[in-house]
Amino acid sequence: MDYLLALDQGTTSSRAMLFDARAQVCAQAQREFTQHFPQPGWVAHDAMEIWRTQLACAQQVLQEAGVAAAQVRAIGLTNQRETTVLWDRSTGQPLAPAIVWQDRRTAARCDALRAAGHAPLIRARTGLELDAYFSATKLAWLLDTVPGARARAEAGELAFGTIDSWLIWQLTGGARHVTDASNAARTMLYDIHRGCWAEDLLALLDIPPGVLPQVVDSSGVLGHTTAELFGGAIPIAGVAGDQQAATFGQLCLRPGMAKNTYGTGCFLTLNTGTQAVASDNRLLTTIAWQRGGHTDYLLEGSVFMAGAVVQWLRDGLGLIRAADEIEALAASVPDAGEVVMVPAFAGLGAPHWDAYARGTLLGMTRGTTAAHIARAALDAVALQNADLLAAMAADGVEVKELRVDGGMTRNNLLMQLQADLLGVPVLRPRQTETTALGAALLAGRAVGVWEDDAALAAHWQVDRVFEPTASADWREAMRARWHKAVERARGWADG
Ligand code: G3P
Repeated sequence: MDYLLALDQGTTSSRAMLFDARAQVCAQAQREFTQHFPQPGWVAHDAMEIWRTQLACAQQVLQEAGVAAAQVRAIGLTNQRETTVLWDRSTGQPLAPAIVWQDRRTAARCDALRAAGHAPLIRARTGLELDAYFSATKLAWLLDTVPGARARAEAGELAFGTIDSWLIWQLTGGARHVTDASNAARTMLYDIHRGCWAEDLLALLDIPPGVLPQVVDSSGVLGHTTAELFGGAIPIAGVAGDQQAATFGQLCLRPGMAKNTYGTGCFLTLNTGTQAVASDNRLLTTIAWQRGGHTDYLLEGSVFMAGAVVQWLRDGLGLIRAADEIEALAASVPDAGEVVMVPAFAGLGAPHWDAYARGTLLGMTRGTTAAHIARAALDAVALQNADLLAAMAADGVEVKELRVDGGMTRNNLLMQLQADLLGVPVLRPRQTETTALGAALLAGRAVGVWEDDAALAAHWQVDRVFEPTASADWREAMRARWHKAVERARGWADG
């Protein structure tokens, strides 16, 4: 029996899943790791803890399934994107805590670049908004502030990478310093049209080219694990950022197909095929995957807070004891009672792009209860996504239906709210672990487990379709109140 091992390194936990050749999950493991918040607006991870938890999960699933390294055809790796690691090539040790995608410490640097007129060049080369979300200013910050880092980087002693590069380096014992094109596209240093690092952006941010990884296909053998990790070398044959992997796992392989993943944040991606569609409405143009040297593109809307809002209700406010309790609590009231939450805890992503927006709760009265706040939290998740679809529509792209995945999609109330606020059907597949599945499929295609993309089609089956039932008037009223609240949240932390 052939197996594929998917490693899914997310923002709050590391996971591993073992799939068989029918794309069924045979074993899985998950480990949470520490979130560090050293200052307001900062978010950091210990890259070594990420590696340790990821390795432990991988070893655990193989052991629990009784599967030897020789039975694993390939590893597919997928990861939280943009998070930035700088490490010493000789010791393999990180120089500083990894700067997480949610971290806002470089917002002022982005402001300065914007004021100097660089945003249009950055968008033209990378398809991205000039924002602290992406790796470029995080890497520049590390080179500027870690003592001696810039000189050592210039001497070729240091390596930069997003989490995929970091894990591949560790998995291959330092033999490979690579990233795939989908992850490279999130650095804000990569020319997504020419398919190479953008020399003018490297010069602009004073990044020595010697720190950068080599960019490889998202599907293809790029190296092997060292034998001692799993009792034998395993080929690493698939790599993609987690949203791109989920797009693949949702089998949104043709232009016009869209998915939304409800994880820490929400990431709505639309496949635009070989066309890199530029947005006039502040969506991102990014790489879906590169296969056989050919690039497919996505239009993406990135929302920073989704599942993290529920986590905050649980851990920050103590309104619920377990994340799943939010559905019953929110369903205990008919609506949010005019309470609106803007969960801008880490600023606002698409289409607002405001690093200084902060969380806001408006419209409370003496009658407001925990249930109204829980309901407002679910509204907020769905309303943020409605803004993304509206931006796509304004760009002339019509999304006819949306495939959804991620932990929050188990919440039927949220899914119905989502369909009602989008006005299009929401399709939940049976397999909602689409991020890990996508990594396994990318790896499996590379090593011949599946001969062509058509052979993958059987791996997507619908579980439930949520049809929109609400009136257009209701939708417009909800969205108008939301936009009023968003205006109140904007710019709060500025100065
Ligand atoms: O761009 C950030 C994204 O890749 C993080 O995904 O699933 O960890 O919220 P997730």
